[in-house]
Amino acid sequence: MATKQFSLVPEAVEPVKTANRTIQTAIPVPESVELLTRLRDQEPRSMGGQPPIVWHHGEGAIVCDPYGNRWIDFSSGVLVTSVGHGHPAVVKAIADMAKQGLYHAYGFPTDVRRRLIEELSSWLPAPLKRIFLLTTGAEATECCIKLARTHGQTVGGNRKSVLVSFDNAFHGRTMGAQLAGGWAGQKAWLGELDTRFVQVPFPDGFRQKDTRFCVFEEALAGKGVYPDDVCGVMSETYQGCNATLMPAEYAQALRAWCNKHKALMIFDEVQAGFGRTGAPFGFSHLGVVPDLAACGKGISGGMPLAAVLGTDELMSMYGPGEMTSTHSANPICAAAALANLKVIREERLVENAARLAPVLAAGLTRIQKAAGDKIGHIAATGLVGALQFTKPGTTEPVPELAWEMVLRAVQKGVMLFAPVGVGGAAVKVNPPLLINGEALDEGLSVLEFVARRL
Ligand SMILES: Cc1ncc(COP(=O)(O)O)c(C=O)c1O
Repeated sequence: MATKQFSLVPEAVEPVKTANRTIQTAIPVPESVELLTRLRDQEPRSMGGQPPIVWHHGEGAIVCDPYGNRWIDFSSGVLVTSVGHGHPAVVKAIADMAKQGLYHAYGFPTDVRRRLIEELSSWLPAPLKRIFLLTTGAEATECCIKLARTHGQTVGGNRKSVLVSFDNAFHGRTMGAQLAGGWAGQKAWLGELDTRFVQVPFPDGFRQKDTRFCVFEEALAGKGVYPDDVCGVMSETYQGCNATLMPAEYAQALRAWCNKHKALMIFDEVQAGFGRTGAPFGFSHLGVVPDLAACGKGISGGMPLAAVLGTDELMSMYGPGEMTSTHSANPICAAAALANLKVIREERLVENAARLAPVLAAGLTRIQKAAGDKIGHIAATGLVGALQFTKPGTTEPVPELAWEMVLRAVQKGVMLFAPVGVGGAAVKVNPPLLINGEALDEGLSVLEFVARRL
């Protein structure tokens, strides 16, 4: 399995000092190398994939190490910290709940759970009505798979159990989530695969140029799947390494197809939900509402919390005590999520993401131009963007350049996470939703500077 790692040998870099960025040491910081080495020695190798920067604290869209360096955060962790780092309202909510003396409650009722459910309800379009709180995105997508299979058995018996998802999809790292995922390499450990998980091309307009819905039907027929055997279709509203939304006409045709064949339409909104795309959900752009949605990441702004949003009927298939999780609605996570959602609403951060979307899109265009012919595809929706490094004139990934771009950007005070996506060659740009235009533009100019020198 190909895996890359950033070097731990400190490299002297030019100092940087602006209102948003400070780089005043070699990178990685010489004093941090012992910590970084210990982690690499004692954790699974898989945990050593990010740029070698010790995160210590943050202020809004700025993230800081303990050595006086500060970065414009274009990572949001991994699209989580929508209201930025250290937001006073979230800090207070966490501290107040800790002081109240409750940090676990299992499924026993709490007032903070009621308040969070009520806040979440106000985000939901009909017929989404009920909210099941969980802890991680993968837990939420797994729950959607379980509900789809249960629905299939209810309306069509055991035969109706095929879960359709998409090539290059990512739904998490647990078994069901990886069966539904669209990455052959990530499923290698599973050996013989469950043939009732089927993937079809995702209409991203880049690797899959034909974005018509007939491709979906043809792909299913080609794999010998009878539409009436499908219990559900699960998709991200945009795929992470591309950041292009599923076309609205495609989504509407899929909605009609699901209705016709009594299959559930499931959107994985773990990345897109709660404002990232400049609308409440990714599907808000598409003129459809799914039967189930899996949410995580930006729902809480940082503390581990996820949710499945579903219709009354689907969320009533299991009886009391039959669908639970130990850390569901953990009081501290719930308090943080509630504060996070209120900040998104009160500070109009969904609107901010929509307002700044053209700035991000224009910046990515400038970066692509600066890189000559090295970036084959760019895409941006709201405040998420992706730059795909490819061999000129092809869709073949070039991960080395993507890694170089991340390293050089970090050395100049712009925080990015390691490249993702097909061949590990996509650089994602996704700042907190509360970033202002000036910091966004400054960070994009740094990326343009770096791209010109690749
Ligand atoms: C679209 C999508 N679904 C599911 C997940 C899994 O979430 P988690 O890592 O919280 O399990 C992710 C995480 O990156 C994601 O991007």
